[in-house]
Amino acid sequence: MYFTKADIDARRARLAAQWNNVLKNDEAILVYSGYPVQKPGGLDQTYPFLPHPSYYWLTGRRREEEVILYNRHTGWIEFQKAWTREQSVWEGEKHDLLVQEPGEDIQHLKSYMETQRFSRVYQLGQVPGNPPVEDNALTLRTLLQQTRRVKDAAEVKLIRHIAGIATYGYRELEQMIRPGVSEMEVRLAFEMQTFRHGGHAVPYDTIVGSGPNAAILHALPTTRIIGNNEFVLVDAGASVYDYCVDITRTFPSSAAMDTRHKALYELVLSVQQDCISKTLAGTFWHDIHNHAAREFTRGLLSLGILKGDLSGLIEKEVIAAFFPHGLGHLVGLHVRDTGQEENPSPRIYSGARLRVDIQLEAGHLITVEPGLYFIKALLEEPGFVKKYQEDINWNELEHWKHIGGVRIEDNILVTASGNENLTETVPKATHI
Ligand code: GLY
Ligand code: MN
Ligand code: MN
Repeated sequence: MYFTKADIDARRARLAAQWNNVLKNDEAILVYSGYPVQKPGGLDQTYPFLPHPSYYWLTGRRREEEVILYNRHTGWIEFQKAWTREQSVWEGEKHDLLVQEPGEDIQHLKSYMETQRFSRVYQLGQVPGNPPVEDNALTLRTLLQQTRRVKDAAEVKLIRHIAGIATYGYRELEQMIRPGVSEMEVRLAFEMQTFRHGGHAVPYDTIVGSGPNAAILHALPTTRIIGNNEFVLVDAGASVYDYCVDITRTFPSSAAMDTRHKALYELVLSVQQDCISKTLAGTFWHDIHNHAAREFTRGLLSLGILKGDLSGLIEKEVIAAFFPHGLGHLVGLHVRDTGQEENPSPRIYSGARLRVDIQLEAGHLITVEPGLYFIKALLEEPGFVKKYQEDINWNELEHWKHIGGVRIEDNILVTASGNENLTETVPKATHI
């Protein structure tokens, strides 16, 4: 069991303290676990059920079609669904419920609501029919997300355990990545180790990009064979009961890499280390992103890919073509943990759209994943070429395109006294 009743009770108490500032005495909140999704044309087949993270976090339960209710007088009431004989026959007894707390039968929810006559009922979680979440419900949902964003000790312990599982996968890759191996073999080697050591699933499709494919941000592994003097970018994680890590390492394929590969790797690594050191409580995430963009601009200028004056290059945001994504995102319970829904119109910083635009607090877990890439679709786009004609050394750039790119990603827990890298057991070359 990963979460105890005491863990769950403490979460509920933290959240109730927030909700009680907003919720009237005669109002109630329902948080739904969700419903199975039918596979198109799949007859009686459904996709694997994922409980809505808000419901799961509040109950430790992973069953479909359940609800937890909150009202200031009644407190928390769980409406649960019994496991049927039919399910036992086809799926076996389910032992994946992390907290065994008997509640009310879900079939009594309707009559219970009728007798209580709440003046208003807010619906959160995976609400049937996906109605829009508005006004007070939006405020309540945001409070839930902000509370859930602060990871508790049991969650951190589980995520450290999962980082240990992923470490087996990355240690294997250190041994097996070399010229002659295919991208798909890299994926299989990683996943074999993580499943073997207790991983339940991969939290997202394993990304493997070798040579020029390293420039594809979410490259799915192909049968391409890795060559000499190439980077192999692997962005791969592991998950247990929907908790996960999201890690990237960029491996050299040969013992002796050329100077351009070395310089690019060292630049990304130094910016990542610098950004990790700035991932502290009280800091605005967009400031760290802007810092990475500035240091990358300075780096590409010194490598001769950019030219001209540093402050002018920063102002023109040329770096967005080489670093087109945000510095990171909240992670933990699913690969994109809370943080997007309350920010529906993300702002642009240094040319990149930041979906996570928060001030960091102790307990936040966030990826720090700077990357530099040579993406032809961006660098060869006519509007880009025209706008940055004077800012890029186009002849020099040609010598870098085949390198693809470098990204390095760790999962950083903000603490009261600094931060902790929960994925530091995953090997990372300090130079190549
Ligand atoms: N693994 C996808 C990402 O880094 O966000
Ligand atoms: Mn990643
Ligand atoms: Mn990530």
